[in-house]
Amino acid sequence: MPDVAHHLELSHKLAYDDLDWALARDHGVTDVEAASLEYFADIESQTVYYMLEVAKLEVARDPELLSFLTIWNYEELFHAQAITRLLREVGREVPPAPERSTAVRGAAQLRARLEDLFQVSLARTMPRSFVALWQAWGATQELITAHAYEELGRRTANPVLAELCRRIAKQERRHFAWYYEAARERLAVGTVVQRVVRAVFEFNWTPVGSGVKSPEEVAAQVARMFPGERIFEVMAVCDRRMSQLPGFAGFTVCSRYADRVQALLPPEARVARRAGADYGDELAAAG
Ligand SMILES: [Fe+2]
Ligand SMILES: [Fe+2]
Repeated sequence: MPDVAHHLELSHKLAYDDLDWALARDHGVTDVEAASLEYFADIESQTVYYMLEVAKLEVARDPELLSFLTIWNYEELFHAQAITRLLREVGREVPPAPERSTAVRGAAQLRARLEDLFQVSLARTMPRSFVALWQAWGATQELITAHAYEELGRRTANPVLAELCRRIAKQERRHFAWYYEAARERLAVGTVVQRVVRAVFEFNWTPVGSGVKSPEEVAAQVARMFPGERIFEVMAVCDRRMSQLPGFAGFTVCSRYADRVQALLPPEARVARRAGADYGDELAAAG
């Protein structure tokens, strides 16, 4: 497990009380931004359930893992709170964060239970693979989430939303770093673990939120966050990072999701790849 002491030291409640809320109100948010932020708030508010699901498993009883899960859950809680505050300040009618959390969970009982069932059985039958999978899965989700906040922060005309996104993205980058290093260590134990984890990714990977949102809702959010060809760029970067993990050479799962998702979007929102484009390089060049 990566050294958690460093993460404990850096961990903190997201600062947002100090933001210039009057300025945020002056600028407001667009309908597309509001829809994105509501999706973010929904997903952020579910972190506690993801944590409860894994923390109840015997395999998670590792002191460093539990320490990380605790600070991760604590930090994500305030992401949902801060987004809710911003939406309310700019005049959008949204429920308080705790109500949102319960409502989202209630609406997605079946899917969320199936996901939990799969986790429990894998954890019992192949505990080492399960932990490696959980870490690698978390790495992709945190990386995409960091990109999503960075993208929203860059595009918005609201300077307060831009600052909030920058602050949240910084924490998401730290979460990614931990999951990624943890995944690297867990995958390094052997080829059986690598094969099992890789197979689950190849078979079933989708971006964060799939447990509580429909495939169309996830697709719509991904397209809102990464419009046009941006989706190919971000997914290519994600694939490239994941490809460096043991047993993940040639990983293209995220890019293939970007292709697959097009069919779930309204025709006017669909994009096709440019032949011969290296999307990973283009995003790196754009910073
Ligand atoms: Fe978050
Ligand atoms: Fe995160």
